[in-house]
Amino acid sequence: MSNMEKYRKYFTKDYLMGPNSFRLLDELIRRKPSDVPFHRTLDLGCGFALTSFFISNETDADTVYAFDLWIPASENYRRIRDNGLEDKIIPIHGDAMDMPFAQDYFDAIISVDAYHYFGCKAGVFANKILPFVKKGGYVMIAVPGLREQPEGDMKQLFETWAEGDDAQLFKTAAWWEELLKNECGGTCEISVKEAECFDIAWQEWFDSGHEYGIRDREFLQKGLDKILNFVLIYVRKN
Ligand SMILES: C[S@@+](CC[C@H](N)C(=O)[O-])C[C@H]1O[C@@H](n2cnc3c(N)ncnc32)[C@H](O)[C@@H]1O
Repeated sequence: MSNMEKYRKYFTKDYLMGPNSFRLLDELIRRKPSDVPFHRTLDLGCGFALTSFFISNETDADTVYAFDLWIPASENYRRIRDNGLEDKIIPIHGDAMDMPFAQDYFDAIISVDAYHYFGCKAGVFANKILPFVKKGGYVMIAVPGLREQPEGDMKQLFETWAEGDDAQLFKTAAWWEELLKNECGGTCEISVKEAECFDIAWQEWFDSGHEYGIRDREFLQKGLDKILNFVLIYVRKN
């Protein structure tokens, strides 16, 4: 069975929280630099902890910390136990802006479709995220973003879809690269790419039948697909 087939049972409206995160995470891992250590990994904004399952099964991580704000740890623990992963995945409820970990603790911090909710502000990466990664460790992020800044009718369509303030969470790859360069001040190697899984990740979200997916499909079909993308970010702490 390919690694994706194992997770197909989760491609439903009960589990997906947006464009299929398994596709994003699979590509984030597939295109990573060769020296990423996973031994102790934080899944930051893990949602239902499904991305933590994938990290635990598909990398050589020994322990994955499944950390999330909206989903209670006890709910994730039930799911983790039902999948026999309770010795490998630790569920924690908390806010990325105030994490309860020791400095230099993680080999890798991975965040899929979550970082944009809290990480678009100056100072967040430098002060709230990077301190928890060991030297030689990585932060790997996949976020929805923009191919280009929308203008005119497209801007209006985009802002109607994103419903006001959320429009501010979508940034171009160049914007993320600039932010992280400023955050790291020369202490990191940074690589930012556009993801290739755009079509399939969205299609599987539409196919899930989730009410938000049905709305998203209408907007993407009106042309929003031309300006949206997913951005993959790799930061190595030197
Ligand atoms: C769209 S879901 C993605 C969940 C999961 N990574 C996935 O891809 O299926 C976004 C998640 O980000 C989490 N999140 C948003 N703000 C957060 C914060 N300040 N601290 C921790 N998690 C946060 C939410 O709790 C939510 O579960």
